[in-house]
Amino acid sequence: MKLLSKLLLLALLVALPTSTLVAANTPKDKTDKEIMRKVDALMKKMTLREKIGQLIQLRPSEGDITGPDGEQLKVEDFIREGCCGSLLSVASPDEIMRFQRLAVDSSRLGIPLLFGHDVIHGCRIIFPENLGVSASWDVEAAERLARVSAEEAAAFGIAWTFSPMCDVSADPRWGRVSEGSGEDPYLGAAMARAMVRGYQGDDLSDPNTILACVKHFAAYGAPQGGRDYNTVDMSERMFRDRYLPPYRAAIDEGAATVMTSFNDFNAIPATGNKWLMRTVLRDELGFDGFVVTDYNAMHEMVAHGVAADGKEAAAMAFDAHVNMDMVDCDYLMYGEELVRERRVSEKTIDELCRAVLVAKFRLGLFDDPYRYGGDRYETAMYKSENLKIARDVARKSMVLLRNENDLLPLDGNERMALIGPFGDSGSEMLGSWSAFGEGDRSITFLEGLQERFGSENVAYTEGCKPLEQIEGGIDAAVAAANGADVVLLALGLPNKCSGEAASMTSIELPQPQLELLDAVAATGKPVAILLVTGRPMDITDEVGKVDAVLVTWHAGTMAGAALADVVSGDFNPSGRLTMTFPYDIGQVPIHYSMKRTGRPMPSPDARAKYLSRYLFTPNEPLYCFGYGLSYTTFDYSDLKVLTPEVKIGEPVRVSVKVTNSGKRDGDEVVQLYLHDKVASTTRPVRELKGFRKVALKAGESKVVEFTIQPEDMAFCRADMEFAQEPGDFDVWIGHDSNAPLHGGFTVKQDIRK
Ligand code: GLC
Repeated sequence: MKLLSKLLLLALLVALPTSTLVAANTPKDKTDKEIMRKVDALMKKMTLREKIGQLIQLRPSEGDITGPDGEQLKVEDFIREGCCGSLLSVASPDEIMRFQRLAVDSSRLGIPLLFGHDVIHGCRIIFPENLGVSASWDVEAAERLARVSAEEAAAFGIAWTFSPMCDVSADPRWGRVSEGSGEDPYLGAAMARAMVRGYQGDDLSDPNTILACVKHFAAYGAPQGGRDYNTVDMSERMFRDRYLPPYRAAIDEGAATVMTSFNDFNAIPATGNKWLMRTVLRDELGFDGFVVTDYNAMHEMVAHGVAADGKEAAAMAFDAHVNMDMVDCDYLMYGEELVRERRVSEKTIDELCRAVLVAKFRLGLFDDPYRYGGDRYETAMYKSENLKIARDVARKSMVLLRNENDLLPLDGNERMALIGPFGDSGSEMLGSWSAFGEGDRSITFLEGLQERFGSENVAYTEGCKPLEQIEGGIDAAVAAANGADVVLLALGLPNKCSGEAASMTSIELPQPQLELLDAVAATGKPVAILLVTGRPMDITDEVGKVDAVLVTWHAGTMAGAALADVVSGDFNPSGRLTMTFPYDIGQVPIHYSMKRTGRPMPSPDARAKYLSRYLFTPNEPLYCFGYGLSYTTFDYSDLKVLTPEVKIGEPVRVSVKVTNSGKRDGDEVVQLYLHDKVASTTRPVRELKGFRKVALKAGESKVVEFTIQPEDMAFCRADMEFAQEPGDFDVWIGHDSNAPLHGGFTVKQDIRK
């Protein structure tokens, strides 16, 4: 090839934008054009080191950072040098203000810092853990949670939350199920969208909006063995059908940032996984914000064994177009060297830096670096209208699993004994990742019940600690039970058994609590378990010993008030499980949308040997996805498929009549499930493709209509296209994933195409 042609080709290659990053810096509108102009002007002044500095996120509260040659460096030094773009987990509004002033006044270009924090289910006011919020099946509730969180976080000085957590998971051994929206991609997607809306609103320049962060990309909820950080290995089809939808939904909703996950994904750690981070995230999903690693996840690629050292890890992350390095500083230590060695282009660094600066401009930080935090803090926290919202979300999240003899609601004349380690603990109501929640500001179960029923009607004794016995605890509990008409037994798992690095091989109640339960049940008094947990639990052996089970989750700041609302009947429980409660841990991972297999159960010949079953354990769970009781009853009838035959690309309309056949007004979560009877791949026996919360007065009926969109019937076909196929479909509508009321429709190939 002639020299001229080579030179022309070289010029072309150098000029080509790194395609997958261009979207991140393409102006959306006139305002954005102005922002891009300002960003370009600022970047012209920046050194390469200062551009890399914007890609560094540090955490001051974990002590000093070790510099390139090992000396202890203070965060302040990084900020002064313009080598820090963001701080996370700064503990107070004053500290945030101090660091911001340092950045603006003492660094060469005065670029404001971006403050991030895990405000995932509240900031000061703590809402139920997200698994509980998803059990409300109330996307408006999720959006309100995020709005209140954003208002308090912004007043605290935080402009970026590491939320929503969009990891689908069917494995309750994994402690982080508490942070997500359960096992179903369709519900998870709806919740993710709602939370992005809540955090970001429709204008990031509004001082009460904050950046959302879609995490943990990707498929972090499927670690082998349910063990946190463990290997994730699945087919691309499984990923696209079951795990991708909530991430995609949050990004479609405009989430400004994404966080990489700790896990490897099909043998390449997410943080250095070009297929995930460029092909899928940027090229396919069109993500145009910026990507931050999870905590130290870049350097952990050395431990994963795919990078020999921090420099190689940085090179992999740059190549995956990861913008920001959370706390390990590999970008800062090796970025300039990698550019000198032409292993990463300065153009890539420019694009990665530009996306971070664009986000800061969109937040208005360059107009006013102190718009977040400051004196707003004093008036924004614990507002009464926000506490009311937290109470409403908490009571809507609670799931009534058992209620023999209609033990609940209580009529208020009963002498109550509240017993158990979670009966009077404000801190244990907060769950994991409780941001700046304050346990002593929480309303405990005891406080809520005494407020509602009168102190004289509610006695309390702890009985045992969450994980250990108390001397004389059981005797005191038995005495309290004998002196009462009804026992409320607050059992479950403490905060530390929820969230990150909290995997468990048993999801049963801890032994001291089982002993307490047996002793109290032996009194013969009616007992309701109040189950405080951030995950499904194996309570198969316990449910038969008590009359009622109410899953309260870790219900947050307003836990006691919300509990009293439910126990008194002031609020009729409407929560429905979004994660299966297994019959036995041996069934895990278990979820409702399994495949049929070639030897399906149930079988006409239940005694047949060669079926997909266990020898001594049922296939069915203890409580299925979508399950939850009410103080009333709901009947379903007249399922009508209004469009029994459609063409590919056309919606399907179905209706059903729902009747409140009981004596109390209540909310029902009407759920619609589909099954593609014959397809080019095996398909789940059921998939949630619609839900609606419906308020019905006692005796009232309503016709509920659903429109199933074509994209809701799409899947990753045998040809790997994500699209619909013609064929016959089952449709069920009802109370949970076992709904029996059935209809069918056919999707025809559109022969004109
Ligand atoms: C943690 C978590 C992540 C969190 C981040 C910052 O290790 O995995 O969810 O947002 O670090 O705290």
